[in-house]
Amino acid sequence: MRGIKFLSIASFVPETVIKNDDFTSFIETNDEWIKTRTGINTRHYAMGVPTWKIGSNAAEKAIEKSGIQKDEIDLIICTTVTPDTLIPSTACHIQRELDMSGCMAFDINCACSGFVYAVDMAQKYIASGSVRNVLVVSAEELSKITDYSDRSSCILFGDGAAATVIGPADTDFNSFLGADGRGADYLRATSIHPLPHPFYKIKGVDPAVDENDYGFLYQDGKEVYKFAVGIMPLAVEKVLEKAGVSVDDIDMFIPHQANIRIIQTAASKLGVPMEKFSLNIDKFGNTSSASIPLALAEAIENGKIKRGDKIVMVGFGAGLTYGAVYMEY
Ligand code: UT7
Repeated sequence: MRGIKFLSIASFVPETVIKNDDFTSFIETNDEWIKTRTGINTRHYAMGVPTWKIGSNAAEKAIEKSGIQKDEIDLIICTTVTPDTLIPSTACHIQRELDMSGCMAFDINCACSGFVYAVDMAQKYIASGSVRNVLVVSAEELSKITDYSDRSSCILFGDGAAATVIGPADTDFNSFLGADGRGADYLRATSIHPLPHPFYKIKGVDPAVDENDYGFLYQDGKEVYKFAVGIMPLAVEKVLEKAGVSVDDIDMFIPHQANIRIIQTAASKLGVPMEKFSLNIDKFGNTSSASIPLALAEAIENGKIKRGDKIVMVGFGAGLTYGAVYMEY
């Protein structure tokens, strides 16, 4: 048995809604530009609630819906680019909050591709027989690292979390994942401030820190856009080729929600109608690794994805990372 199944999926989105017009008091922008260039109308902000908390809210609901007990989960994988602490991992915070001590718990940072990487990892752990069930939690608070003086990026991001309990199943599964580190500088946030320590002075080293480069997210939008419109359709084609399945066999595509124009371009390159793409970028903006599971949870809730449907999840992000997973729901 090499397949997996989402036993349950649940999401948690913080309640504070930020509208496009809310940005006009501090940057030169307008609702029309944001809507037409990105497809975003609103995004939600956590307003100081920690990332681990929104993650554990989603995880708690997912476990409740899964029909299994907490002690049947052997691994927690948290995907996040916005942890509250560098150590411990957000997964350990979530484990503590949910009273699940004992199982393995770790974070992965593959940026916006995090969920597809985590699902692939869950499948490999489950297929090896070393774990029974895996809890994947994607929790992001981009509002914490957004550069609010950069009008081309600050309007894009939002906060949110989604979690799924994954178990073994006799179903089809395939993945195509990768990264291109040559684009590492196109999308980055430096959070580790190299605090001066006594040995700089003792060894006569001047680390030449650029104070402006710490903390905030920087994006070369045009380069990321170019990468995205190429890699999204390619990753889908590759995973379908590996799985021996045609694009027409897929019931629903769940893409990373970064920009509606990127998704439209990918859909047109693949020859797939937009109705087959699960979308919620208008409400939540780009929530990095939480965006795919948020869109997946919504499509399931709205009856757009049913048990037995063939789905493809596809993401790309900082790294530059990318990946597509094909599976049956
Ligand atoms: O998960 C992470 C992955 N990230 C992405 O997928 C992002 C990929 N990139 C993008 O989505 C797009 O490049 C952006 C949405 C970031 C920018 O859209 P664009 O169509 O590439 O706009 P642009 O950078 O070419 O800018 C066009 C114009 C410029 O003005 P000029 O130089 O033509 O006068 C910008 O200064 O739009 C201006 N502009 C804005 N105007 C109003 C940039 N941001 C804004 C804004 N409001 N917020």
